[in-house]
Amino acid sequence: MSQAPPPTPGPSTAGPPAQHTDGVVRVEHLTKTFGSGPGAVHAVHDLSFEVRPGRVTGFLGPNGAGKTTTLRMLLGLVAPTSGTATIGGRRYDQIERPAHVVGAALEAASFHPGRTARDHLRVYAPQVGVPDSRADEVLALVGLAEVAKRRVGGFSLGMRQRLALATTLLGDPPVLLLDEPANGLDPEGIAWLRGLLRALAREGRTVLVSSHVLSEVEQTVDDVVIIARGQLVHASSLPDLARLARPRVSVVSPDAAALDALVAAHGWTVGASGRDGDAASYELLDVSAAQVGAAAFGGRVELHRLAGQDVGLEDLFLQLTAAPAQQTSAEAPAPGPGPAPVPSSTAPQTDAPAGGER
Ligand SMILES: Nc1ncnc2c1ncn2[C@@H]1O[C@H](COP(=O)(O)OP(=O)(O)OP(=O)(O)O)[C@@H](O)[C@H]1O
Ligand SMILES: [Mg+2]
Repeated sequence: MSQAPPPTPGPSTAGPPAQHTDGVVRVEHLTKTFGSGPGAVHAVHDLSFEVRPGRVTGFLGPNGAGKTTTLRMLLGLVAPTSGTATIGGRRYDQIERPAHVVGAALEAASFHPGRTARDHLRVYAPQVGVPDSRADEVLALVGLAEVAKRRVGGFSLGMRQRLALATTLLGDPPVLLLDEPANGLDPEGIAWLRGLLRALAREGRTVLVSSHVLSEVEQTVDDVVIIARGQLVHASSLPDLARLARPRVSVVSPDAAALDALVAAHGWTVGASGRDGDAASYELLDVSAAQVGAAAFGGRVELHRLAGQDVGLEDLFLQLTAAPAQQTSAEAPAPGPGPAPVPSSTAPQTDAPAGGER
């Protein structure tokens, strides 16, 4: 795995422990355009959000949404076209001992295959400024103690993910930025990761974990930041997101007139309706099957179908991040229901990318 950032060689003297309360991650009007002219890629566009300590935050968006690019800007691996990305109020290049402030694991695993897990960590330990013994501590933390002496070349994807996580924990950083850490983990591994991330957040750390599937992190995260096409489409606590998912009821009656009257009398919100001869069908929003059933029973309306449906969070996620009908670069407005706190009036970014990055 390409460990990012590579632990920088720094003073090996142990300094004061990093302030966990310093761990606010802030992205303000962040924009990244790769290339210029007609072929320019608007990877991230006027993106603003904040990630708080003591919580696990899911950084969510479909493939190509700009998650990795945003993380790379936070880690000083890509220069923003405009805007700022800070950790504890400082840009990455202003942080004195970065490995003690932020641990990051980006996608794309590449370890030296001939090295053992322990040796891999011992190579990094002096750069981070921690004793060799820290290697065994972090291996134990990620459940790799038993394979400490095995060569990484023979590791499974899940084991590599764990080793990547161990590397990020070497400097005991208060902020963790993890790009798709659940990739390659089996269900047991995902449950384990959930426990570890929650424990790290309980210690007061800031834990930002990206994923392109909400359901993968649904049980892990406290907050969500959802992006699509480089723009913010939603940021809130998970319960607030869940409230956007509207329950719906499908109901069919052979007596269309009676069902029409019932729906009108109760003022239910109609999502969709249909006719089939004398029969009527409705899709009603924000009401439960029990409520509709009770009302029909009370009104002596015969029903041939009554089915409640909870809109899953994943459906909502798909709605929020769905491509708009006419997508025109990163200018496309945020789609879907719910708050869309994206200023979308900014002019297209035409800045050439700052040099240096791929
Ligand atoms: N170095 C680069 N040069 C040109 N375009 C890039 C570069 N890096 C990323 N992009 C483009 O920026 C957009 C966002 O990519 P990014 O990797 O940030 O998305 P992502 O949300 O991490 O996606 P995934 O879920 O697939 O990992 C994509 O269109 C991608 O092709
Ligand atoms: Mg990515």
